[in-house]
Amino acid sequence: MQGRLDMEGALTARDRVGIQDFVLLDETTEVAVISNLKKRFSKDLIYTYIGTLIVSVNPYKDLDIYSKKQMDVYMGVNFFELPPHIYALADNAYHTMLTEFNNHFILISGESGAGKTEASKKILQYYAVSCPSTTLMNTVRDKMLMSNPVLEAFGNAKTLKNDNSSRFGKYMDIQFDSQGDAVGGHILNYLLEKSRVVHQNHGERNFHIFYQLVEGGSDDLLTQLGLERDVQHYYYLTQGECAIVSSINDKNDWKSVKNALQVIEFDETNTNHLFRVVASVLHLGNVHFDPDSKGHALLKNNTELKWVSDLLGVDANNLKEGLTFRKIEAKTEQVLSPFTIDHAIYVRDALAKAIYGQTFTWLVNRINESMENKDSSRKTVIGLLDIYGFEVFYVNSFEQFCINYCNEKLQQLFIQLTLKAEQEEYEAEGIEWEPVQFFNNKIICDLVEEKHRGIISILDEECLRPGDATDLTFLERLEEKMGNHPHFVTHRLADKMTRKTLERGDFRLLHYAGEVTYCVVGFLDKNNDLLYRNIRNLVCQSKNMIVRDCFSAVDTTNKRRPETVATQFKNSLQKLTEILMAKEAWYIRCLKSNESKQPGQFDEALIRHQVKYLGLMEHLRVRRAGFAYRRKYEDFLKRYKPLCPATWPHWRGMPADGVEVLVQHLGYLPDEYKMGRTKIFIRHPRTLYATEDAYEKCKHDLASKLQAKYKGYKVKGEFKKQKEAATKIETCWRGAQARKEKEKRAWAVKVIKKFIKAYINRGEAKSTDNSEYLAFVRQSYLNRLKNNLPKTVLDKTTWLTPPAVLTEASEILRKLHYRLMVRKYVRGIPPQKKAQLQMKVVTSAIFKGKKENYPPSIPQSFLDTRISEQEINIRVLSMIRNEQIKYSVPVIKYDRNGFKPRPRQLILTKTAAYLVEEAKIKQRVSYNSLKGISVSNLSDGIIVIHITCEEPKQKGDLIIQCEHLYEFLTKLSIIANKQDAIKVVQGSITIKIQSGKESAVDFTTGQEPMVYKAKNGHLMVVATRTRTR
Ligand SMILES: Nc1ncnc2c1ncn2[C@@H]1O[C@H](COP(=O)(O)OP(=O)(O)OP(=O)(O)O)[C@@H](O)[C@H]1O
Ligand SMILES: [Mg+2]
Repeated sequence: MQGRLDMEGALTARDRVGIQDFVLLDETTEVAVISNLKKRFSKDLIYTYIGTLIVSVNPYKDLDIYSKKQMDVYMGVNFFELPPHIYALADNAYHTMLTEFNNHFILISGESGAGKTEASKKILQYYAVSCPSTTLMNTVRDKMLMSNPVLEAFGNAKTLKNDNSSRFGKYMDIQFDSQGDAVGGHILNYLLEKSRVVHQNHGERNFHIFYQLVEGGSDDLLTQLGLERDVQHYYYLTQGECAIVSSINDKNDWKSVKNALQVIEFDETNTNHLFRVVASVLHLGNVHFDPDSKGHALLKNNTELKWVSDLLGVDANNLKEGLTFRKIEAKTEQVLSPFTIDHAIYVRDALAKAIYGQTFTWLVNRINESMENKDSSRKTVIGLLDIYGFEVFYVNSFEQFCINYCNEKLQQLFIQLTLKAEQEEYEAEGIEWEPVQFFNNKIICDLVEEKHRGIISILDEECLRPGDATDLTFLERLEEKMGNHPHFVTHRLADKMTRKTLERGDFRLLHYAGEVTYCVVGFLDKNNDLLYRNIRNLVCQSKNMIVRDCFSAVDTTNKRRPETVATQFKNSLQKLTEILMAKEAWYIRCLKSNESKQPGQFDEALIRHQVKYLGLMEHLRVRRAGFAYRRKYEDFLKRYKPLCPATWPHWRGMPADGVEVLVQHLGYLPDEYKMGRTKIFIRHPRTLYATEDAYEKCKHDLASKLQAKYKGYKVKGEFKKQKEAATKIETCWRGAQARKEKEKRAWAVKVIKKFIKAYINRGEAKSTDNSEYLAFVRQSYLNRLKNNLPKTVLDKTTWLTPPAVLTEASEILRKLHYRLMVRKYVRGIPPQKKAQLQMKVVTSAIFKGKKENYPPSIPQSFLDTRISEQEINIRVLSMIRNEQIKYSVPVIKYDRNGFKPRPRQLILTKTAAYLVEEAKIKQRVSYNSLKGISVSNLSDGIIVIHITCEEPKQKGDLIIQCEHLYEFLTKLSIIANKQDAIKVVQGSITIKIQSGKESAVDFTTGQEPMVYKAKNGHLMVVATRTRTR
């Protein structure tokens, strides 16, 4: 995400701050290139690509682009997806190495002070942080990192060009195992500029370590080494007259070096011996010679000499002799030849250079031992080449010659590799290749190194030939041989104009990077680099382990001359070229922004010069030969696929086909691009721009689409999850239900089985088999009975039929229930009703089943009376009041003679019945004289009251018709206590009339009720038939 943001930032920056890749410039002119560099530099964008090559411009200030965060951003990200950075190149090399399992190297070039060493350190730091690592590997990693301060202290120095100028060449292999762990390292060092130990030009310093020791070393250490804490005290440190430099903090650096020495496992003895060597060189520089009378060198001041002999562990006298006499072996005897002062100084300096130079090599070897990976499994390497850059001083000597030759070689390598690589790529991809004109510096390399004809050969020849070979004779030889070489000129060979710029002892080479005038003085000596045998023998016996190691390794008995320095150097560079050619190359071209080491200054002329000699324009043209841009199909498709519906979001076919579809969709014209075997080649940058701009636009649209989609997806996912959860719960629930159901069924089966068994055994005596069933039957019958009990006493049918076991109980219950109902009923009867019922019981006892219209009369209630006292005549009332009137009813009285009907009131008192007509009591029948009462069995209302005729006043039986027959007769029978006196007769009733006469009342049934006197003199009563229910 961070990467994306940064990338987007950089892509918008692209418009404002030039172009990230020169290949994409529309014009490939020098002006366009420099203006782009300048634009970017002004915004601190110091890195710009030419394809996979990085151009880096020294900012001379710390930029916040090397943090751990930045490293993380670049880790594993496609090269072109992020703004140019040295980390991108490091990362790309690393990943290519891992995927292709082959070796790589990073060639860092540029002139002195352009930033090569800084770049190599950044890359090493990147690997240290970004590669996976174990604890074990951590120590290897630390050692690799820490080798830098140590080697810089011993091999770097302040020059006019650079305050931390590398004065040796360094090629470092970082070894990786197949997992990509950094597991080991190895350093090859190239030609240290030893002359610096004894001489520095004005404004320059010796190697940093001397100053660090004097400034930073503890008092004890300095005492031990016999040193004073004053750099000015030492001749070797003060020739440049700038021992103290503001940009360098020697004290702090000393601490770093001490710490680094510990990390790379230098024990105390080693460290001690190392500093003794360093100190011995300082003392050696202060060894002073005085002339004797003959002008021979004399060593007067013995203290410095003593310190040297002490520190190096050599005999002081031998040392003194070695520094002042040359030992010449003549047949059997040895002759000592005294030195002139100059000669003595020369020998002294030679010793100092030799000791220091050898110690430096020893140091590299020790570091290599410490970083060595002893595991023999196969490893791949990334080599970092950081060598001294091309340099031109006011006076240039043998060292500059070597350094600049080295840079020529590297330029040659670069040309070969880039051209080769490019050509191979076009061939491999089947793309037609258009050669680009470029300056090939092979001619200069040949000028220097060609066998027998090159400068080095001629120099060697001069060094070896007998006779008076001098630097000047060497120059003459050169002039002879190189007479008309276009890149070589001397005072003698030059035209008039050029001659003015040359001294007689100079020769000038027209290097790829510019003209350099070399002063031949010292060439022969430096090339010979000889130590006199007695001195050499002396140091071989040194008690200082380092010195002894260094010199005893060289075979002193071998009389053959060792190879000259230039030849050694040439050979080592040849070897280096071979090493590099076998690997895949990555390039960092460092440019110096200004000569005064100032931040923010962009010296256009200086930059233009570097752009020119570094061959950047040619490289750019080569890269663009025909096609400005190329990209692997997979990568191209991956980036731009959102631009075409057919390729977005996935292209299922071959990437090449996808790219073809994509570019067709984008409307690329046929001559704008070519399809190689694995890559697409785009001719004009504008085509890519249009695509890139479209992509930028599309990315925003896409982002919102993706966002929306993602949201939808998330919601969908949530829904799906919920649904799944619901289904799960449902399933569980159903399962639980099913299990419950199953249990229930199993239980039911058991119960039913039990039930059936019990049912079969229900008739048996109570046993375990049927007891439960019987209990159930009982309970269930009782429960059912409870809900189905008869509601009224009259309901005799509802009683539930009991099961066999409950027959008896049921009967008891039935009776109990009825009794209870009756009781409840009876208790509920009001007193009036009770009296009524009691009367009805009496009525029932008399008439039930006897008289036809009795049943319909039952529901009719009896009243207390049918005539109220107000309706009774007052006279009658007054006559019978004292007898208490109990009941009165209107009746029809039939005369005994003639049976004439007469309406009368019949009043019952306590003692007698009165027949009253208005105010007259027509007849009083005392209950005592009441003999009986007869009624018919039919539905008529005729009542015959039989009266005892003995009483004189009585006129005979009384015939009345009463509408309320049952009521009246019941009352009468109760009042008169004559229940038994009432008779129901069939057919006819005999009546006794006064004076012994008899008649009868005959009853019959007919259509109409009638009462009349029949022909036989009887009273005929016709009743209608009452339908009985
Ligand atoms: N990337 C950078 N960021 C900040 N400062 C830098 C950077 N690169 C170089 N410098 C500054 O420039 C100085 C010189 O750089 P460096 O020592 O790497 O040059 P060089 O190319 O190795 O020179 P030489 O050939 O003399 O060894 C550094 O000491 C540092 O001050
Ligand atoms: Mg350097």
